[in-house]
Amino acid sequence: MLVLGIETSCDETGFAIYDSERGLLAHCLYSQVALHADYGGVVPELASRDHVRKILPMFNQVLAEAGVTKQALDGIAYTAGPGLMGALMVGGSMATALGFTLDIPVVGVHHMEGHLLAPMLEDKPPEFPFVALLVSGGHTQLVSVKGIGDYKLLGESLDDAAGEAFDKTAKMLDLDYPGGPVLAKLAEKGHLNRFDFPRPMTDKPGLDFSFSGLKTHTRNLIEKHRGSDVLPDQQTTYDICAGFQEAVVDTLTIKCKRALKQTNMKRLVIAGGVSANKRLRQKLEAELMQFDAQVFYARHEFCTDNGAMIAYAGCQRLLAGERSDLSLSVTPRWPLQSLSSI
Ligand code: KG4
Ligand code: ZN
Repeated sequence: MLVLGIETSCDETGFAIYDSERGLLAHCLYSQVALHADYGGVVPELASRDHVRKILPMFNQVLAEAGVTKQALDGIAYTAGPGLMGALMVGGSMATALGFTLDIPVVGVHHMEGHLLAPMLEDKPPEFPFVALLVSGGHTQLVSVKGIGDYKLLGESLDDAAGEAFDKTAKMLDLDYPGGPVLAKLAEKGHLNRFDFPRPMTDKPGLDFSFSGLKTHTRNLIEKHRGSDVLPDQQTTYDICAGFQEAVVDTLTIKCKRALKQTNMKRLVIAGGVSANKRLRQKLEAELMQFDAQVFYARHEFCTDNGAMIAYAGCQRLLAGERSDLSLSVTPRWPLQSLSSI
């Protein structure tokens, strides 16, 4: 089955073509980072308009790169939520219009299910069951995964998501947008232990997270080292980045180990933008090896938003007979646990 995947939930336009027999044939991605950089965050209306500008040229590009015509497509998958309403509607309208004209099935995919299944595109995909740590700009969740759509929420962030904490901390330090990867890069030059950072909610039982206190702690530290209105000196900035990143990574690692123990599982999948973080991967690999558990993640470009994960997840659901109707429906808020298993 040849499936087109369309991702437009936020500030990335992603297209991909996945074949259930041959795997991923092509994918292309356009990032709106430059468009939103001046505003220090995503401006929803600008995001929708930019998706409109890009979807047709990118559709043609992905077909050409895959070497297929649109008539060869057997199905279309689009991100139906969660995400920005206007941005979701752009991909959804294109998917439903194409489905109607080509007379092929269309399926709306849950963006976080896309992330969760992205490691399935790698050479050594994880087998079910596993624990998934979903860490993106909008979500931090630990999920027990027994199969596609068989998800049980084990814990989640009570306030900021991990990616959001990275981005907000980077903003306090006046780093370029989007802050997460920039902060991670500067952390490589910093000393981990110059400053003390809390590991929130790790001394209490349970699998929930909270990152807003860590953010406040970091803000106070920055204020303390700020001159009258200048930023901390360069090395101090690096040290704050390193200490902050280590606190987030430690907190996530402690909870992942706890989740594996609680579920008696030996496989951990990390997915979403923050799973691109090198330090997080390193630490989890080292810690999990000690009790014979393994960590799986997608290649770097499939950790953040992309069309390939949507094409893959949609293909599995289409193969299972799932169909969305052609009345365009997007769901900006959509709990992962409400999905049906296939
Ligand atoms: O999954 P994603 O592309 O979009 C959402 O669905 O939210 O995740 C984006 C988030 C942003 O908060 C970004 O700063 C963060 O992932 N991120 C990182 C890294 N790369 C992306 N955070 C820490 N370290 C990174 N290397
Ligand atoms: Zn995402």
